[in-house]
Amino acid sequence: MQMQGKKIVLGVTGSIAAYKAALLVRLLVKEGATVQVVMTECAKEFITPLTLSTLSGRPVLSEFFSSSSGAWNSHVDLGLWADAMIIAPATASTIGKMASGVADNLLVTTYLSMKAPVVVAPAMDLDMYAHPSTQRNLDVLRSYGNHIIEPASGELASHLSGKGRMEEPCNIVSMLKDFFFGNSALKGKKILITAGPTYEKIDPVRFIGNYSSGKMGFAIADECAKQGADVTLVAGPVSLATPHPSIKRIDVESALQMHDAAVEAFESCDAAVLSAAVADYRPAVQCDRKIKRTSENMNIELEANPDIAARLGSMKRDGQLLVGFALETNDAEQNARLKLEKKNLDFIVLNSLADKGAGFAVDTNKVTIIDKEGASSYPLKSKKDVARDVVAHLSKMLLMLLLILLPCSVQAQELNATVALNTTKIQGTNTEAFTVLKDALTEFINNHKWTEYDYEEYERIACNFTFIVDSYSDDGSFTCTLMVQATRPVFGTTYSSMLFKYEDRGIKFSYQPYDRLEFNEDNLENNLTAVIAFYSYMIIGMDMDSMGELGGADFLNKAQNIANNAQNLGDSGWRAGSSDNNRYAVIDDYMNGAMEPLRRLMYRYHRLGLDTMFKNADGGRKVITECIGMLKEAYENRPLAYITKLFTEYKQEELVNIYSNEGGEDEKKAVTEILTEINPSLSDSWNKIQNSSFR
Ligand code: PMT
Repeated sequence: MQMQGKKIVLGVTGSIAAYKAALLVRLLVKEGATVQVVMTECAKEFITPLTLSTLSGRPVLSEFFSSSSGAWNSHVDLGLWADAMIIAPATASTIGKMASGVADNLLVTTYLSMKAPVVVAPAMDLDMYAHPSTQRNLDVLRSYGNHIIEPASGELASHLSGKGRMEEPCNIVSMLKDFFFGNSALKGKKILITAGPTYEKIDPVRFIGNYSSGKMGFAIADECAKQGADVTLVAGPVSLATPHPSIKRIDVESALQMHDAAVEAFESCDAAVLSAAVADYRPAVQCDRKIKRTSENMNIELEANPDIAARLGSMKRDGQLLVGFALETNDAEQNARLKLEKKNLDFIVLNSLADKGAGFAVDTNKVTIIDKEGASSYPLKSKKDVARDVVAHLSKMLLMLLLILLPCSVQAQELNATVALNTTKIQGTNTEAFTVLKDALTEFINNHKWTEYDYEEYERIACNFTFIVDSYSDDGSFTCTLMVQATRPVFGTTYSSMLFKYEDRGIKFSYQPYDRLEFNEDNLENNLTAVIAFYSYMIIGMDMDSMGELGGADFLNKAQNIANNAQNLGDSGWRAGSSDNNRYAVIDDYMNGAMEPLRRLMYRYHRLGLDTMFKNADGGRKVITECIGMLKEAYENRPLAYITKLFTEYKQEELVNIYSNEGGEDEKKAVTEILTEINPSLSDSWNKIQNSSFR
């Protein structure tokens, strides 16, 4: 019931695909939406009003006046009432009427009165769809801010095969849910984006420009808007549409105009991404008349344009982020770093024209994201996917900023740990040492300052350390098994998801009641505090990985350093190669470059998957399915690494629940196969995924 309370006007037009409107109504009603169907006369030839009114529970409207009561069916009221209007199927004829305002039926008048976002799902024959007239009308609708759901390819009513099939109702509902409740990582943030080229006028017919199409910047604007941001897009001369309603577009032509618009907007923004290809120079004189050919050679004197990025860099306040692009042809990384520094950017996205498929005009790009901490290179991807990577890096940095800017007066620290000491294996022993040890450990974990950040009480990470004492002697030497686990809340629910769970056997240490537990990173003398510090950093790092892509690197590196240094302590669990699943191997695996897909999935799985599932079950689950693909990639990169298997162990129950009764047959099959390959010992659970009933 994720669309509970949402009011939807569904416009149905005369297409063979009108039968799909019945399923669409049913799915919307099932999700809790109130659906008012408005249909054209022609649509009634394909599906009866009775079917749609029965399914929606409301009379279907199609005439300006009710034929029974004579009352006026107010399209104006409908326009004010609705939270969204969907026109599905939308024929070429209705699309044309919408584009040119031909208000000769109730559906089009309702559309023209609509205050809410409009979603259009075209359905027609492939030639009609491809016709320039239809394409031009769709572009006009896009320019009005309408959202077009591209038709799918497949067999059409004409028995021809091609693009023109109306998108399946379940996908339309899932897009609507995304629209209403999509990933909200950037909710409340204002983001400025520059995109496209600038044109520097020489005379009324000529300009200095470049090949930028705006595709990269528009994809970033779209991604930011999808993640809930309010976007101001300052666009140079491009022929692209901005369908998302949260994007405010300012069209400019020259670098000076782009400069003025960007400076004005940046003041109230949380971040700016400058992807425009701005001309560095403009003609010193712009002629009012066309310059005539008078001699063989001609010189144009140029003067420098302002550097918009550098200007915003000088204006940047605490709490604001500035992201630049660098388009290079040679010495790429070195030049990009210089720009990062000189323009006071927080990170820079490098693309090089030396890479095939990267840069201007194409639909793909290959980038390296460089910040003060280092550089991450990505393979060639669609500009949409590159935009996702850039925005993920941006939201991670915004999150970090937030943590840094938190007030310093807080008492609480990072971990909210409970400690348990289980002594059932050594009954009959004097328990005084254990009681004191439990209190000392609780205090040590919870009050130690593991990071330089100050956590609010509500931000502390829930974790649990259970020591099962295997042996103890009066001289204070212990042998223990430690069960450590950490969870994170799923946003908007009371449910917590396991972030890390591990059983560490054979830990040896000495403790006499009232010994002080101390920890020194440079001098690991005490095995007990070294082990606790190791897991504390691991938990904090994994929590941050789940909050921003690869966000926990600093703390995970600390955990890895402890594991490296502690090899000298001579205790089991720290030594490389002593077993494939000791704590040294666990962190070493996790931080190994080959495991990057696993680290990246931590963010996607938790923030984009689980955190959105409660309001968008399908969308969230699809992200989780993508993550299982990433897990497979990590597994294939290093099949012997224990960490991928460990992940499947502590996510086992959650994954079974996620796919029970949800997801398509192929999706469940693929997920089951991957999980079984990674961890065949849990195949009983994975089979439950495959065998759960299908929707
Ligand atoms: O638009 P597309 O066809 O999709 O192509 C995308 C792209 C190649 C244009 C894009 O990916 C890109 O690289 N944009 C930046 C191009 C550029 O001008 O790079 P630069 O290295 O010259 O500039 C460095 C940074 O300073 C950029 O963020 C640029 O926006 C900014 N700048 C440059 C000059 C200037 N006068 N003012 C600026 O703000």
